[in-house]
Amino acid sequence: MVIAMIASSGLNTKSLHAAEIVAHRGASHDAPENTLASVNLAWEKNTDAVEIDIYLSKDNQIVAFHDKTTKRTGGGQDIPIVEQTLAELKKLDAGSWKSPKYKGEPIPTLLEVLPTIPEGKRLFIEVKCGPEIVPFLQADLAKGGKATEQTCVISFNSDVCREVKQTMPELKVYWLAGQRKDKETGNWEPALNELIAKAQSIHADGLDVRAHEDLDANYVSQVKAAGLGLYCYTVNNPTEAKRLAAAGIDGITTDRPAFIRKAIGK
Ligand code: G3P
Ligand code: CA
Repeated sequence: MVIAMIASSGLNTKSLHAAEIVAHRGASHDAPENTLASVNLAWEKNTDAVEIDIYLSKDNQIVAFHDKTTKRTGGGQDIPIVEQTLAELKKLDAGSWKSPKYKGEPIPTLLEVLPTIPEGKRLFIEVKCGPEIVPFLQADLAKGGKATEQTCVISFNSDVCREVKQTMPELKVYWLAGQRKDKETGNWEPALNELIAKAQSIHADGLDVRAHEDLDANYVSQVKAAGLGLYCYTVNNPTEAKRLAAAGIDGITTDRPAFIRKAIGK
């Protein structure tokens, strides 16, 4: 039905079905974000990819966690991840805040997440700290033993993107580029051509942007003409997901992978 409607509207059905579904912090609508419960639930829901956030602990172990401190999702104590050892972090409850069902769910290491990636699927690793993590990331990815194409790195920090690409040129890297709309002019800042130029200067493979109303087929084609991939976050609205997929976007990050997958008719 969806395909028929789109075909009759002249939209590109091939692009619609090609969009990669990326489960944001795992299946985080249903399970506690950045835990093995949430990552494994996303794979069970047949997502194409999972996104996790990572930090370096005090003793240089890479853990999956979104916030700078463990206050919101790590049991309540407002202590930065970087000031806690892995042993200390492992004692925390990263599940109860979401639901009693997930009480005691631990903070996973990257090394615990990597083996969960099924064949043919990949993990988007968002680096939340600075380039100091890169040598440890390289070591963990080597230890994890997954094929190069099964992981990729994203970061708002362009220095991280540049450094990852220099250290591991074979790894796909997408720069998370922020844009805001000027209320008076209606222009997006920075402009798309500036984002493209920056992504190229750091040798990123693409852009990953917050989804917005002006992200359309023209926007997508400008990015692709520059030889870059284009991903977006975080889309939980099925109508918006269909519009973005039809515009030809490479990937859609969502808290609800199964729901959005069904919506775009994948
Ligand atoms: O996938 C990119 C997105 O995760 C960036 O924002 O705050 O959810 O990490 P945030
Ligand atoms: Ca993230």
